Amino acid sequence: MSPDGTVSSLPDTTLDQLKSIVGENGFIDNATDATAYLTDWRGQYRGTCALVLRPNTTEQVSNIVKICAEHKITVVPQGGNTGMNGGATPAVDSNAVLLCLGRMNKIRKLDTLNYTATVEAGCILQTIQDIADEEGRLFPLSLGAEGSCQIGGNLATNAGGVSVLRYGNMRDLVLGLEVVLPSGEIWNGLRSLRKDNTGYDLKHLFIGSEGTLGIITAATLKLFPKPKSYQTCFAAINGLDEVVELLARARQVSGDRVSSFEMITRPPLDFALKHGPNLTEPLSEPSDIYGLIEIASSDPTDESLEQFLERGFEDGLITDAIIAQSEGQRSALWKLREYLPEGEKEEGASIKHDISVPVSSIPAFVRKAIPAVTDYMAKIRPVYFGHVGDGNLHFNFAKPTDMADDEFFTHKDAINHIVLDLVAEFEGSISAEHGIGQLKRDSFLHYTPNLDINLMRQLKAALDPHGIMNPGKLL
Ligand code: FAD
Ligand code: MLT
Ligand code: ZN
Repeated sequence: MSPDGTVSSLPDTTLDQLKSIVGENGFIDNATDATAYLTDWRGQYRGTCALVLRPNTTEQVSNIVKICAEHKITVVPQGGNTGMNGGATPAVDSNAVLLCLGRMNKIRKLDTLNYTATVEAGCILQTIQDIADEEGRLFPLSLGAEGSCQIGGNLATNAGGVSVLRYGNMRDLVLGLEVVLPSGEIWNGLRSLRKDNTGYDLKHLFIGSEGTLGIITAATLKLFPKPKSYQTCFAAINGLDEVVELLARARQVSGDRVSSFEMITRPPLDFALKHGPNLTEPLSEPSDIYGLIEIASSDPTDESLEQFLERGFEDGLITDAIIAQSEGQRSALWKLREYLPEGEKEEGASIKHDISVPVSSIPAFVRKAIPAVTDYMAKIRPVYFGHVGDGNLHFNFAKPTDMADDEFFTHKDAINHIVLDLVAEFEGSISAEHGIGQLKRDSFLHYTPNLDINLMRQLKAALDPHGIMNPGKLL
C-alpha cells in the first residue's frame, strides 16, 4: 500500500498468515487508513508497505518476524512517527511490513524502591513521565514530541531533549531491554540491576540502532527522585560568548543542578509566536539571543537565581530576564520552547542540522558557519536554537521567502556540506540526537571513519544476515 493507493504484492497466503497473528484490530490493509503511517512528521518521505501490523504482545512481534525472516520480507518498526530523518518510513517501492508498536503500551512493573519502571515499547513518553510523577518519581527524558513519541522510538534513536545536561540521553536512562531479533527470537535482557558486569553490555547495541538490529518491545527504565523545586528563567543574552559564560556560571553556582539550558535565537522565536497558539513574548524588549535556564532542586546555600541574574546583568552577560513565579509561567516558557520546531515547519521549508560541537566552541562555530552559508545563499534565513548545555545546536535554515521549495532543496547537499565540513573542523557530530535515518545516510557514510562503518556493518551482518530490518536506514 502507498499513499496513492497502489497495493504492493505479497502472496495472499503470507498476508493472511501475518493478519491471523494480530487479529482483526491488529492490521491495516487499506491505503487510506495507512497514509498517516507512511509519511514522516516533516513530510519529507512517503513510503509504501505490504501491510501495517499493530501487534499487542511480544510473542505476536516474534511470530511476525519469524514469518518475515522465512520469506525475506523487510520489516520497518515504527513508534510515534515523530522522527526527524525518515527512519520509520518505508521506501517508496517497498514490500515491507510496517510494524507499529503503539498497541504494546503496558506498564509491566513499577518499582519505586528500586527506582525503576519496566514498560512496553509502545508507551507514550508523556505517559511514563506522568506515571512516575504520580509516584513521586521523575522519568527525566523530555522533548517537544513527548505527547506522541514512544519509549521504543526514544530508545531506537537514543533520544536527547532538554534534560540531557543533568540526566543524560535515553542510553543513560535504561537498565534493560527486551528485543525481538531479526530471527524472531526474543532476547530478554530486562535487567533492573544498576550493576551487572557479565560480558558485553548487549542492550547498548540496540539503543540508537534505529530499528536496524531488532525490534525493542520493552525496557526497564531508571527513575529519579522528583526534584523538590524548579527555578526557571528566560534571559536576553548579550551574545554567543555570553551564552557559554552564563552556562559555565550556572553550573558552578548551582552545584551542577542545571537541568536545562536552551538557547533560542530571534527567528525561531518569531516563527513560534507567529504560528503557535496562545504563545506570548516573555520579555518587553527584543533580543537576538535568549536562554531558557532551569535549575532543579536548588540548595539553600546556592547563590539564588536572582543574584545569579543580577551578576550576569552587572557583568554585561544579560540585558533582561524574568523568573517564572508560578508553575503556569514555567510551563508557558516551556510551551514556547517546545513549539520552535512546529513553528519552523509551519513557516515553510527548512534545511536542518542537528549538530554538536564542544560547548566552548559554539561561538566560533556559529560565527564561521552562518557567513559561510549566507555567502552561498544571501537570502537564506538562519533559524538556530537548541540544547546548548550539551553543545547541541539545531542549526537550521529556512528558505528565502521568495524561493520555491523545490529550488531551495536543490541546494540541500551544498548547504549540508558547508555546515558539516565545519562541524568536522570543530570535531563535532553531524547528528547529536536525531540519529541518521534515511536523511543523513550519505553524510554519515561520508563523515564517519571507514573502520567505524565496517565494524557497524559486521554487527549488522551478524544480527541481520538477510538485511530484513529497516533496510536503507542508517547504514
Ligand atoms: P519513530 O519516529 O516512530 O521511529 C524513529 C526510529 O526508531 C525509526 O528508525 C524506527 O524504525 C525506529 N523505531 C521506532 N520504534 C522502534 C522499536 N520499538 N524498536 C526498534 N526500532 C524502533 N528528538 C530528540 O532527540 N530531541 C529532541 O529535543 C526532539 N524534539 C522533537 C520535537 C518535535 C516537535 C518533534 C516532532 C520531534 C522531536 N525529536 C527530538 C525527534 C523524535 O521525537 C525522536 O527521535 C523520538 O525519539 C522518536 O520517537 P518515535 O516513537 O516517534 O519514533
Ligand atoms: C528540538 O529540540 O526542538 C528538536 O530536536 C526538534 C528540531 O530540531 O526541530
Ligand atoms: Zn532537540
